Amino acid sequence: MPADPHDRPVEHPVLVVDFGAQYAQLIARRVREHRVYSEIVPHRITAAEVAAKRPSAIILSGGPKSVHVEGAPSLDPAVYDLGIPILGICYGAQLIAQQLGGTVGRGTRGEYGRAHLTRIAGTASTLLHDGIPAEQDVWMSHFDAVTEVPPGFVATAGTPDAPMAVIEAPDRKIWGVQYHPEVVHSPYGSHVLEQFLHRLAGCAPTWTMSSIIDEQVAAVRAQVGSGRVICALSGGVDSAVAAALVHRAIGAQLVCIYVDTGLMRLNESDQVVETFKRNMGIELIHVSAGPRYFEKLAGVTEPEQKRKIIGELFVRIFEEHTGGLSDAEFLVQGTLYPDVIESGGSDGTAAVIKSHHNVGGLPEDMTLKLVEPLRLLFKDEVRKLGHELGLPDEIVLRQPFPGPGLGVRIIGEVTPERVAILQHADAIVREEIANAGLERQLWQAFAVLADIRSVGVMGDERTYAHPIIIRAVTSDDAMTADWARLPYDLLETMSNRIINEVAGVNRVAYDITSKPPGTIEWE
Ligand code: XMP
Repeated sequence: MPADPHDRPVEHPVLVVDFGAQYAQLIARRVREHRVYSEIVPHRITAAEVAAKRPSAIILSGGPKSVHVEGAPSLDPAVYDLGIPILGICYGAQLIAQQLGGTVGRGTRGEYGRAHLTRIAGTASTLLHDGIPAEQDVWMSHFDAVTEVPPGFVATAGTPDAPMAVIEAPDRKIWGVQYHPEVVHSPYGSHVLEQFLHRLAGCAPTWTMSSIIDEQVAAVRAQVGSGRVICALSGGVDSAVAAALVHRAIGAQLVCIYVDTGLMRLNESDQVVETFKRNMGIELIHVSAGPRYFEKLAGVTEPEQKRKIIGELFVRIFEEHTGGLSDAEFLVQGTLYPDVIESGGSDGTAAVIKSHHNVGGLPEDMTLKLVEPLRLLFKDEVRKLGHELGLPDEIVLRQPFPGPGLGVRIIGEVTPERVAILQHADAIVREEIANAGLERQLWQAFAVLADIRSVGVMGDERTYAHPIIIRAVTSDDAMTADWARLPYDLLETMSNRIINEVAGVNRVAYDITSKPPGTIEWE
């Protein structure tokens, strides 16, 4: 495979070494918030491979194991001798202690949650600078703890259950913290990361949105030359930002296709056409395919079968409408960095958790070459980039929306009438969430139409109609989620409005299931 130009190495990255679970991603995001590019690498990386990347610093992430168990992940010890500044976090700090000749005690009492960290009197710290109070709350999650520092190290702060919670060897440029500076529950965590990155490691704060745009515009131009490029817009943030970025690079060589499956949110199609065609002047093929979808979906109730039908029809329509663009060589996809890591970019330490949701189920035997300008970015960066590229809030801040659309939120048969009911109820849910100013705090908030009916009474009449279920969740990455504690008054407003305004609905329920055990969507 030829090297993907979007994988062109960014100079002097901070390498975040992944010791498992999901810790590395959050650390990598936090590093980037300090405008330093970070890259996640597997812990099996060798010192030679590390050196070849010419990193400006290395962060060893937390991990779910104990350094004492057999097969616990470790680091090529030669990495410590490269002279590259290293910060170990949690498991990473214990590993430093263990590998460099200190001792990690098997904890008898772990610390989970908030802990009180105190500077050790008489020691000088380069990591905990003077602006950080001598006593502070930090977030802990560990069982073992460092009990003896390696030669050349000094412990500069501790908690009751981790007396050596900060260890430092400034001469060797190695530091370790037992707590988690990357989480918001460590109020001075960001100061510590900044101190390490900008001052101790001397990383330049050059990773900015405009630098990303310049870099990717150049990469897209280099990849596609004068070739024709197609982009399937889904209405979601990722494909929208990818399209805007590619358009910035190659203008009229880009043709977008938007398939209205009839399963979109209320007014979504108008918004996409308005934004891309009218405002941005992007060439857009807009296919109104609702009737074809409804015909295929008639009588189908089984969730997987629905998904399959929706996906396959998308492929067919995509091919019908792009077949005429015989000179097209490239296809834009809004692949993000977490997808790259999850699909084996890492060495599998962070287990593959999410079965991949293919954007629109594009042809497997596709001969188009992929243009993936967002491959290095996290979702929050994609949103910032979208703003920088001039996309409106309605597009950039919109919630994730599944490829099969409202099809996975209608339990039972998907018909135009049922879609209309759900679109209306869903619009009310989202409008009221926006009115309450809660949009940014939620990962998703939407309505689901159930396939049951219940008895009600409206006016003097008995009703026998469908319930709408409101689903609102908080989440960082959709892999786990919690149901949002929406205020009762807000739920009441939504309930009243839905029942009064949406014909065919006589009851509203609120889904209070987290993920796991539930999923975010209902099908
Ligand atoms: P679940 O329901 O698995 O959803 O908890 C996790 C996240 O993925 C979205 N989702 C999909 N996205 N195609 C997509 O593009 C799909 O088939 C699909 N199914 C779920 C869902 O909205 C949530 O954000």
